[in-house]
Amino acid sequence: MTASPSEALVGEAQIPGDKSMSHRALLLSALAIGEARITGLLEGEDVLRTAAALRACGVAIERSSNGQWRVEGRGVGGLIQPNQVLDLGNSGTGVRLLMGVLAGQPIRCLLTGDASLNHRPMRRVAEPLSRMGVQFALRDEQFLPGMLEGPGRLLPITYEMPVASAQVKSAVLLAGLAAPGSTGVIEAHPTRDHSERLLTHLGATVNVDAGDGCQEVRIKGEEELIAKDLAVMADPSSAAFAAVAAALLPGSSVTMKGVSTNPLRCGLYRCLEEMGTNLSFTNEREQSGEPVADLLVTGGRLQGIEVPAERAPSMIDEYPILAVAAAAAEGRSVMRGLGELRVKESDRLQAVADGLSANGVEVAIEGDDLIVEGCGGRVPGGGRAATHMDHRIAMSFLVMGLAAERPVTVDDASFIDTSFPGFAHLMQGLGAKLS
Ligand code: S3P
Repeated sequence: MTASPSEALVGEAQIPGDKSMSHRALLLSALAIGEARITGLLEGEDVLRTAAALRACGVAIERSSNGQWRVEGRGVGGLIQPNQVLDLGNSGTGVRLLMGVLAGQPIRCLLTGDASLNHRPMRRVAEPLSRMGVQFALRDEQFLPGMLEGPGRLLPITYEMPVASAQVKSAVLLAGLAAPGSTGVIEAHPTRDHSERLLTHLGATVNVDAGDGCQEVRIKGEEELIAKDLAVMADPSSAAFAAVAAALLPGSSVTMKGVSTNPLRCGLYRCLEEMGTNLSFTNEREQSGEPVADLLVTGGRLQGIEVPAERAPSMIDEYPILAVAAAAAEGRSVMRGLGELRVKESDRLQAVADGLSANGVEVAIEGDDLIVEGCGGRVPGGGRAATHMDHRIAMSFLVMGLAAERPVTVDDASFIDTSFPGFAHLMQGLGAKLS
C-alpha cells in the first residue's frame, strides 16, 4: 500500500473498538454467570482469534446481524477441554490473557500463533503461572507452540513483575480469580488497568494499594462474575493514527467520538499536546467502567519532545506513530526506555529506525532510547518501509506518507486488519491519499 502527500484531513472518524477491552470483554464474559451482549467489539483478526479459542473451549459466542455479540458465560472454571490446537494468530494479548484463563481450568491444550507470535517471549507469563501450579512445555522453554495444563487447584501467589506488562499482570489476576485466597501482582510502573476495571465492573473484588514507588493489585479468588452488557470504547491506540495525521497536516480538523481517556492509555495525547497540537476532549463520560470522551484534533506545527521512560507504559503501542510525528516536528526528539518495543509484534525499535531512515529522516538508537531529528515540516519520503507482520508499523509509515514530500510505500498492509479493519477506507474518507 502507498500513501501519497495529502492536504488537510477533515471530518468525523468512527474509530473501531478498543483491542485490549475487546479481548477482555470476551474472556471475562465467558467466565461470568449469565449472558452478555457486547456492542462496539473490535472485529479485527486478533479479537476474532480469541473468540474462536473460547468457542473451542465450549463457550457459546454469536454475532448478530446488527454487530452485537452475545456470549453465554460458563462461570469461573467452566471451560471444557478443546479438541483442537488453539491458534491465536498474531495476538500477544489474546494468547497471554487466555493462558491466565486456562490456568484455572482442569484441561490440557496446545497453543500456537503465526510466525510473529511464535517468536515472542512467553516465559514472562509461564513463570508466574507455573508458580501457581500450571504446567507448561514451551518450545525452547520460552516460545510457542507450547502445551499448557491446568492443575485443577491453583495456588494463590504474590508476584513482583520484572517487566512492566499489563498482559502479565492480567494473566496472573485472571488465574487468581480461580485460586483460593487472594492473588497479588506488584508493579513498579502502573500499566493499563482494563482487567482490574472490568473485573470490578462484573463483581470481582480487586484492591489496589499504592506503595512507595510501586503498587500492589490483589484479586479475591473463587468469586463469581456476573455477566453484564458491555459497550467497548473506541481504541485510543487506533485513534492515534488519525490524530497524528491530522496534527501533521495544517488546516486539519478531525473528530473521533467515544475514545478511551483511560489515563494509563493517554501518553501519546500528552506528548502531542506538549509538541503543540491542539486537542480538545469534550462530553467526558463513563462507559462499562471506563472513561471516554469525544476528541477533536486540529493540525499545525509540532515541536520536538523528550519523552521520559516512566511514560512508556501509558503509550507503549504508540511509539511508532510518535516517531512519525517527531520526524515532521521542529528539532530533535528523544524517547527513552523503549526496551519493550523489541518484543512486540516486531522489533519495533529497529523497524521504526529502518523505516525512518529509508525515508530520509535522521534517526539513531542509543541503548533503549530512540533519537529522531525532526525535519521541521514534510519529511522527504520516497522510501519503502518493511512492516515485519506488524500492523502498527504499517499504519505509522502510511501516515508518514501523507505528511511527506514524496509517497511512502509499506511492503505488506494485510496485518492492519489485526487491530484496525477499514483503516484505509476511514483515512480516505478524511481526505488521505492511500492506494
Ligand atoms: C496490552 C498490553 C501491552 C500492549 C498490547 C495490549 C493489553 O502489552 O502492548 O498491545 O491489552 O494488556 P504488554 O503487556 O506486553 O506491554
